[in-house]
Amino acid sequence: MTNFIYDKLRTIHVELTNNCNAGCPLCPRNIFGGIQDPNLIISEISYDNFVEWFDPVVKNIRMWIFCGGWGDPCISKDIIPIIKYIREQNNGAIININTNGGMRQKEFWIELGNLLNYEGGRVTFSIDGLEDTNHLYRQYVNWNKLIENVKAYISTGSNAYWDYLIFKHNEHQLEEAEKFSKQLGFKYFIPKRAMGVEGNKKIGVHNRQGKRTHYIESGLQEDSKNMGEGIEVKGNNDEECIENFIKHLKNKKRDKIEEKIDPAVINFNPNTFEIDKERHTSLNKKTVQCRVLSHPQHGLQEGENSTYISSKGHVVPCCWMGTEMYMGMPTFELTQFKHFLYDHGHHNISLHHNTLKDIYESNYFKKYEDSWSIPDIRKGKLAICAVNCGENNALLDLWKHNKNRVTYKWAQDEKN
Ligand SMILES: C[S@@+](CC[C@H](N)C(=O)[O-])C[C@H]1O[C@@H](n2cnc3c(N)ncnc32)[C@H](O)[C@@H]1O
Ligand code: SF4
Ligand code: SF4
Repeated sequence: MTNFIYDKLRTIHVELTNNCNAGCPLCPRNIFGGIQDPNLIISEISYDNFVEWFDPVVKNIRMWIFCGGWGDPCISKDIIPIIKYIREQNNGAIININTNGGMRQKEFWIELGNLLNYEGGRVTFSIDGLEDTNHLYRQYVNWNKLIENVKAYISTGSNAYWDYLIFKHNEHQLEEAEKFSKQLGFKYFIPKRAMGVEGNKKIGVHNRQGKRTHYIESGLQEDSKNMGEGIEVKGNNDEECIENFIKHLKNKKRDKIEEKIDPAVINFNPNTFEIDKERHTSLNKKTVQCRVLSHPQHGLQEGENSTYISSKGHVVPCCWMGTEMYMGMPTFELTQFKHFLYDHGHHNISLHHNTLKDIYESNYFKKYEDSWSIPDIRKGKLAICAVNCGENNALLDLWKHNKNRVTYKWAQDEKN
């Protein structure tokens, strides 16, 4: 028995592309904001792929999320025909698009706004500050262009949300930004406790030439800090961490999924793979509360489920896994997860080779579910699920800022 039932699939999160115009320092597509991950191969879901893959389910889907983990949906070539197609097939379905908003001309934003002009349509703009601070995280997003695009989109009357990642350099602007969001016509202003600077981490930011230009840190206010546990980053400090990472990418052993699998992934031995003792014990203790089964974060009701499709066409349960499966860090949780996928066969989870129904009707999702009740990560409990959906996780803490009561009440309600 599995709870991932094909007929109960109601939300699909699609990464239309892993391409982007920006260089956010904690986004995996570039190394701390600097050079693009040399192993990244740009991939995109075309209109034809989309129709072929989702035609059998499009009428059942209540919510589409176009966000992704490695790119920006608004830079993808076919976003407009894809949205048109969904609207023609099921005009009440919720469509949410997350974007840095800095690309394209205002005509595009007006066209998008006209397509999303109904209750369930919305664009969430990721704007982390004001004119003098947004670019410190959203590198290469031009403020004037962004605001021109936002105004063009909002002029159509469609719903706009403002997501605001809080850092030390922009926490003093929260109130002013919220006021500005109202002036512009945003429906919601959503402060989020940034990840990657959990606790008091200080991260060096790099430009496209790989030179360090500035640092980012978590906010100073208690309520601005993300205190949850994130995925492990090897290295005790920023320099060591970057050095380790570049060394790892350069040794070319990293798997690119289906092209060359890292021998460390193929030969992963859960009994001997190095993991800090305290982290091991803590991950064993965590109870996994999966957020793509019957969970309000994905607009799901009891018994319903959601899934994620990467720009390469791989199907994994959630966006966190869909992002982390391509990351290069040689940690326990990532290597174990990549081995899990390798063992199942990347080919078997690809929509380029299988239908979504076939993937659902294989034993694939049950393997995830079965892993959650295993008491030890060395015996098969998926460490990545314990990190992302166990107690005290950074993904949940992200939503817990006291001003974020309206849209994400579920985050405040959860016990951990
Ligand atoms: C990789 S982005 C893809 C969508 C789009 N490019 C964007 O940035 O909005 C996915 C989500 O991660 C968020 N994000 C980026 N950096 C983050 C961080 N350090 N902490 C938490 N969320 C972050 C983005 O704001 C966005 O909501
Ligand atoms: S805008 Fe989104 S995809 Fe682009 S670099 Fe920033 S977080 Fe990554
Ligand atoms: S990380 Fe694991 S437990 Fe969490 S949503 Fe994804 S599949 Fe579910």
